[in-house]
Amino acid sequence: MPPVIETNLLKKTYTVGNQTVHAVDDVSMQIQPGEFIGLVGPSGSGKTTMLAMMAALLRPTEGCVAIDGVKLRDMNEQQRVRFRREKIGFTFQANNLLPYLTVMENVYLMLQLNQRTTKNDKAYAKEVLGRLGLGDRLNSLPRQLSGGQQQRVSIARSLIHNPSVVLADEPTASLDTERAFQVVELYADLIHEQNKVGVMVTHDLRMCKYVDRMIQMRDGKIDTILETRQEIDEYISCG
Ligand SMILES: Nc1ncnc2c1ncn2[C@@H]1O[C@H](COP(=O)(O)OP(=O)(O)OP(=O)(O)O)[C@@H](O)[C@H]1O
Ligand SMILES: [Mg+2]
Repeated sequence: MPPVIETNLLKKTYTVGNQTVHAVDDVSMQIQPGEFIGLVGPSGSGKTTMLAMMAALLRPTEGCVAIDGVKLRDMNEQQRVRFRREKIGFTFQANNLLPYLTVMENVYLMLQLNQRTTKNDKAYAKEVLGRLGLGDRLNSLPRQLSGGQQQRVSIARSLIHNPSVVLADEPTASLDTERAFQVVELYADLIHEQNKVGVMVTHDLRMCKYVDRMIQMRDGKIDTILETRQEIDEYISCG
């Protein structure tokens, strides 16, 4: 099967003053349909920069990203906006909820942007919010929720329009362990059931329990790739 995400000698270089930082340095990877990837590595190793380029939020210095065979660099600005809205579900570390809209309205907005507002779509929004443990908070405003609850609303919003590519930067950072596992399991279930692809950045190795492949970055490069359940589990247990 052709890969859903393919990066080819991807590079992002920043120049600050007279210093050059190779945030991402010649990274080539392929992610197949139904695959959930854990992207790990020390702070500053280039994980967020990788995700931002995959989401067409950031242009590479060199190399390219292709999603479903389409090279992102060949798209104009209008096509990129549409691509992000339809194909990508992105959760940032900061949750970016709209403060004047309720939980349901924040999630529903994503459906409206994609002109998907049938009864089924609304029911799906409720189902996903329910699976994230927010079924009784649909009419709350973000400020009435805890940080972890807000984070879960933002996760629901990133999944609701049924994107084929799910990208998440530290999605479990403000959740307790039990809730964090539930969230990652939900990602894994949706990705596997619906043949999506997912890339999750995490500092918490335990969260890689549900990923299919673990890619470790160091200094902008791929350092190690763990591909079997046994390798991943051994790595997690050794910390
Ligand atoms: N806009 C920018 N300008 C200059 N340097 C940047 C910029 N964005 C990132 N960098 C640098 O690129 C490198 C990779 O940053 P990135 O945010 O991708 O790391 P990360 O792996 O996500 O780290 P963390 O785990 O701390 O979130 C770092 O050295 C960072 O300082
Ligand atoms: Mg980061």
